[in-house]
Amino acid sequence: MSLLTIMPSGKTIEAAEGQTLLELILAAGESIPHKCDGNAKCGSCHIFVQAGRKSLSKISPLENEKLDSIVGVGSKSRLACQSRITGTEDINVELLGFASGF
Ligand code: FES
Repeated sequence: MSLLTIMPSGKTIEAAEGQTLLELILAAGESIPHKCDGNAKCGSCHIFVQAGRKSLSKISPLENEKLDSIVGVGSKSRLACQSRITGTEDINVELLGFASGF
């Protein structure tokens, strides 16, 4: 079990192994676009992982391909729907504006 902090609200939620960041962010009551319902097809769930990358599943070729097509992607970018909790280190993510990923 690790703790997920969601910025900019600062909301914190417990994260269990196997859950995705998208599931957790929605469960915390935050709004995050997820147009393709978690299939790595739309890129709208693009977020920045500011801390705790080691607690997340590795970027798959599919996710990598989608990230490559998004404007504003950086070294901390992930697709929330493709990032699964795999470790116990606390995680800090930053939600982006609705302009990202379209
Ligand atoms: S919800 Fe579409 S890529 Fe994550």
